[in-house]
Amino acid sequence: MRLKDCHNFHDFRRLAQRRLPGPIFNYIDGGADDEVTLRRNSEAFNRVDLMPSVLRGVTDVDLSVTAMGQKLDLPVYLSPTALQRLFHHQGERATAAAAEKFGTMFGVSSLGTVSMAELAQKHRTPQCYQFYFHKDRGLNRAMMQSAKEAGIKVMMLTVDSITGGNRERDLRTGFSIPFRLTLGGMMQFAMKPMWGLNYVTHEKFSLPQLDAHIDMKGDSLTIGRYFTEMLDPGMNWDDVAQMVQDWGGEFCLKGVIHPDDARRAAEIGCTGIVLSNHGGRQLDGSRTGFEALDEVVQAAGDRLDVMIDGGIQRGTHVLKALSLGAKAVGLGRFYLYALAAAGQPGIERALGQLKAELIRDMRLMGARSVADLGRANLRFHG
Ligand code: LAC
Repeated sequence: MRLKDCHNFHDFRRLAQRRLPGPIFNYIDGGADDEVTLRRNSEAFNRVDLMPSVLRGVTDVDLSVTAMGQKLDLPVYLSPTALQRLFHHQGERATAAAAEKFGTMFGVSSLGTVSMAELAQKHRTPQCYQFYFHKDRGLNRAMMQSAKEAGIKVMMLTVDSITGGNRERDLRTGFSIPFRLTLGGMMQFAMKPMWGLNYVTHEKFSLPQLDAHIDMKGDSLTIGRYFTEMLDPGMNWDDVAQMVQDWGGEFCLKGVIHPDDARRAAEIGCTGIVLSNHGGRQLDGSRTGFEALDEVVQAAGDRLDVMIDGGIQRGTHVLKALSLGAKAVGLGRFYLYALAAAGQPGIERALGQLKAELIRDMRLMGARSVADLGRANLRFHG
């Protein structure tokens, strides 16, 4: 199986599985507890039907949207995700370059493996910076300051991760940084020598957003431990209101589900929210971003930009979210599997296919631009 054999999300996932050592693939692929929410993220889209309008004469299709003050050529953006250079040696550099090629936004994570400043310098496309609220307030201030200096336009604070989700796949393999593998995990690495060769022959692994602040040489940092030991579970609305004020620009909460929280986010001056359950990786049994969308748009959609992420595999998923009022839709695993499969050309192929799907589906829906999509284009069922 090669890149040219990848025609959809599932193909890229399979190729990523072939290329990556098991513990790394499972870190991307897995979710919390029984992975019910992980599965439901995609399934939820099937409970809503598209109602096409015919004979509208759709020759040209305009896919552009404006979200968080950023004009995007596509209604999708690449959500911030952690540790990308573990998945492919190009890591965030591939993600940013592919996003720029398609005229859309990409995110850089606090746990990113390339510095946001380097990417901001290299690319014109908007970048959002994903922020975790640490116990160490000095670290929080320093990170905000670096984001400002780098010229980042959109701040995205993750609010669904004040403690680590229960990722049982990672417990089984011993996934952590630096690697502290179980014997089974080690054997899975030995089976992927090409990945190992790439890993050791490229730039040494680092977390530039955090490097100056944490000692990576000591004990190994599992994602669970990072969340549990470094992040502040006491984070509350007052803390965030202060951050919103300090930032003074586009500020978005990622991980909201409840309409009351959406209203509250608007009240403290947030300009956007991402309805998200962190790809099913945190609270299993949580409602999905797509399921929450209608209610939240009605509650607060006139006061801030509502976006969603989670489970997006198809152009039609994106159109369903846009029809319910999402300003844009975030992709996570969708581009991570493509990155792992083939680096920048992988992501570009995946985005190219999604764009072609979106144009085709817009035509079939009778929609010339995203503004033509609305609730009238949908019917809900059981
Ligand atoms: C995760 C964090 C790092 O889901 O976003 O693994």
